[in-house]
Amino acid sequence: LIVPVVLSGGTGSRLWPMSRASFPKQLWSLVSERSMLQETVLRGQSAGFAPPVIVCNEDHRFLIAEQLREVLVEDASIMLEPVGRNSAPAITAAALLVTQTHPDAVLWMMAADADIKKSEALTQAMTKAVQAAEAGRVVTFGMTPTRPETGYGYIEKGAPLPGVDGVFAIKSFREKPAQAVAEEFLKDGNYFWNSGMFVFRADVLLDEMRRYAPEVVESVTAAFEKRKTDLDFIRLDKAAFAQAPDISIDYAIAEKTQVSAVIPADLGWSDVGSWDALWDISPKTADGNVLLGDVLTEDAHGCYIRSEGPLTAVTGVDDVVVVVTADAVLVTHKDRAQDVKKLVDRLKTDG
Ligand code: GDD
Ligand code: MG
Repeated sequence: LIVPVVLSGGTGSRLWPMSRASFPKQLWSLVSERSMLQETVLRGQSAGFAPPVIVCNEDHRFLIAEQLREVLVEDASIMLEPVGRNSAPAITAAALLVTQTHPDAVLWMMAADADIKKSEALTQAMTKAVQAAEAGRVVTFGMTPTRPETGYGYIEKGAPLPGVDGVFAIKSFREKPAQAVAEEFLKDGNYFWNSGMFVFRADVLLDEMRRYAPEVVESVTAAFEKRKTDLDFIRLDKAAFAQAPDISIDYAIAEKTQVSAVIPADLGWSDVGSWDALWDISPKTADGNVLLGDVLTEDAHGCYIRSEGPLTAVTGVDDVVVVVTADAVLVTHKDRAQDVKKLVDRLKTDG
């Protein structure tokens, strides 16, 4: 049994003003006519895997249930977090749910906010991943790095594993290295970016979590045992879940586990984290502009211009991002798109 687990907890602040805490980026149609959450769920369904488990913030439950209905995924389990505690507690909750009925099920953990263009390559990589996971490995996918990005995990490839072609041991895993370290990794050539997807048996994940992050298992188990299930949702207990350390699977497990493996693959993968990244992967006009909604340009090049309402006209500028929503307008240079997070942080503190 292969169970896709979709983690939908981030708020995507660098994609403000489209992405908001109340309506985060993975629920918007940013890269296709479907939302990234829908695209992610359909990846598991088209592969013929079991109904997915979605782990999300309880505030998003109706939005997510509705989006699943839209793509005809009726039998998902939706687990609700009373507070966000990052990906390690979230995946632990999913593993506890699945092991109740299928202890040795293979989980395919997916981020709700990545774009994968090469579905055949993904299918091939998944076939290998499932084989390695069944043999007890914690499997990652290695993306060829193109810049010294500090927001990703880096995987150092080790020796080939016997048994499955194209699967390698991992020499080291480093989450979000400093700039200088990321530059070293890029130069070295033996490092990959972590895609954020993992494949492992549910029981193996829980064993590794008990070994390296026992407090996570302890609090999430308590939250799971005190869960309340209503018609559509599985609600984790707030007091117990809030005790869980705020830690990602990358720091909790990937950096430490001795049973990891990596499958280098060209998946057409992209982490849709910021407006410049979205510009990269979107279809462009002859002038290199991405134009969405009621927008008009004259002598503008390399821009990302999107309006959710008002006519938006742009002239005489290159490489800018203009995003217009009903109640907010963003203007930034593509090279400064990471700084949008700073604005959002200020909005939070300045009120
Ligand atoms: N349910 C739930 N609850 N999901 C969460 C939570 C949470 O508290 N926190 C994060 N997630 C989800 C996000 O929605 C996203 O789908 C996924 O877990 C990864 O979280 P991010 O916060 O986006 O992680 P990251 O981008 O900093 O780093 C991860 O992804 C990179 C690739 O995009 C790591 O796995 C890196 O190693 C990797 O390179
Ligand atoms: Mg991310």
